[in-house]
Amino acid sequence: MQIKSAEFVKSATKPAEYPPVQLPEVAFAGRSNVGKSSLINTLVNRKRLVKTSSTPGRTQLINFFEINHQIVFVDLPGYGYAKVPVSVRKKWGPMIETYLSGRKSLKAVVVILDIRRTPQQEELNLLGWLNHYAIAAIVVLTKTDKLSKSKSTQQHRRIAQALSMDPKDLILFSAKTRRGRDALWKAILSLVDE
Ligand code: GTP
Ligand code: MG
Repeated sequence: MQIKSAEFVKSATKPAEYPPVQLPEVAFAGRSNVGKSSLINTLVNRKRLVKTSSTPGRTQLINFFEINHQIVFVDLPGYGYAKVPVSVRKKWGPMIETYLSGRKSLKAVVVILDIRRTPQQEELNLLGWLNHYAIAAIVVLTKTDKLSKSKSTQQHRRIAQALSMDPKDLILFSAKTRRGRDALWKAILSLVDE
């Protein structure tokens, strides 16, 4: 995918603040600090379009980005980080659910997992929930650069099993080496073009 433009559109917490529905949209979801923002930057070949941080829980709003005036990427706040204040954490679930269940232009959700971690209940809930609402999910295992080849193969299989998925349907990714970028774009475009 050749990137001609990638622009921040706006941040939102509720539907009244979302940009108007004009282009197909793809959202990125995952645990706090899993690498969502880095993954988006890799897809669009920008170092800092989306702010990344080594401190978990930095993305607390729904952020909309327009790519090539063709597709909208939505960086969702991460879940599961205990140190975020309870008042903020309580709003996350409803904020994300409202977005996912009500957004007409949403074509797919990229669910991002750390290849080093076994999926937890939150991941299973998210995937079950997307399935329930018939929203296409693309599952990505990121930070693959942090594991040896054999460990990576082992985790790939283990995670597929935990999710009851075919290992072939999981995309192996790294924001550091850019592994999986083409495969992920392909998966995204096939759902956007449907
Ligand atoms: P929140 O917005 O806080 O939920 O985090 P996030 O999921 O957007 O994660 P972010 O992209 O900010 O990355 C978190 C940390 O992981 C940063 O220090 C990144 O540099 C690092 N990171 C992200 N992806 C990769 C990867 O593929 N490989 C390696 N080695 N580090 C990564
Ligand atoms: Mg982020």
